[in-house]
Amino acid sequence: MDARERLIVALDLPSVAAAEAMVTQLGDSVSFYKIGYQLAFAGGLPFAESLVRANKRVFLDLKLHDIGNTVSKGVESVARLGATFLTVHAYPQTMHAAVDARKGSSLRILAVSVLTSYDDADLAAAGYDFTVSELVEERAAQARDIGVDGLVCSAEEAARLRLMATGGMVLVTPGIRPAGAEKGDQKRIMTPAAAITAGADHLVVGRPIVAAPDPKAAAEAIVAEIVGATR
Ligand code: C5P
Repeated sequence: MDARERLIVALDLPSVAAAEAMVTQLGDSVSFYKIGYQLAFAGGLPFAESLVRANKRVFLDLKLHDIGNTVSKGVESVARLGATFLTVHAYPQTMHAAVDARKGSSLRILAVSVLTSYDDADLAAAGYDFTVSELVEERAAQARDIGVDGLVCSAEEAARLRLMATGGMVLVTPGIRPAGAEKGDQKRIMTPAAAITAGADHLVVGRPIVAAPDPKAAAEAIVAEIVGATR
């Protein structure tokens, strides 16, 4: 895979106008964008289609979870937008429905195992009798067995999950910070090179690029770091 294709820039911006300006500024430096709740619910879905028409790839981070029939219909609609990746929560019914509904399209389903803001106490409060690491492993195994295309995981989890994510599953890791960058609210961070070495296929990077004084230079520096780590 081309190093540039491995970088996914999170367009965590309040409006389509702001996102368009960022995409224009990044130009050929970035070919893959992630759209989450903030932009999706502010006109981001037609915007996703326009990115696809401009030969960019789109990751819709919508973290779907509902009854199987509703998930299927939603996934069919997302597939028609031309997106490359869509996230769903890693519940077996939801994953089965999503994987079946994406057949015949180029959409790939990524499972979110346990949200990174959850710790063991949060899981206990939600009624689970698992630690975070047990539940991540259990859900990753279920995702693999159901035929989910990939997992969203922290770079710390990537090395362990790489061993079990067989069958060409892709690992997509947020929480990436170039050396010296602001951590923001991310707790478990890794540099781009360390995440690639740990087994990540794609890196999701938001603020270190979109909030940089020179976003294009920041993106180019990360692509260079990916190239260096894959040599
Ligand atoms: O700005 P920053 O690089 O921290 O952005 C990371 C992106 O990845 C955000 O869009 C965030 O919602 C997303 N994400 C994350 N942790 C997860 C899943 C998604 O940070 N476990």
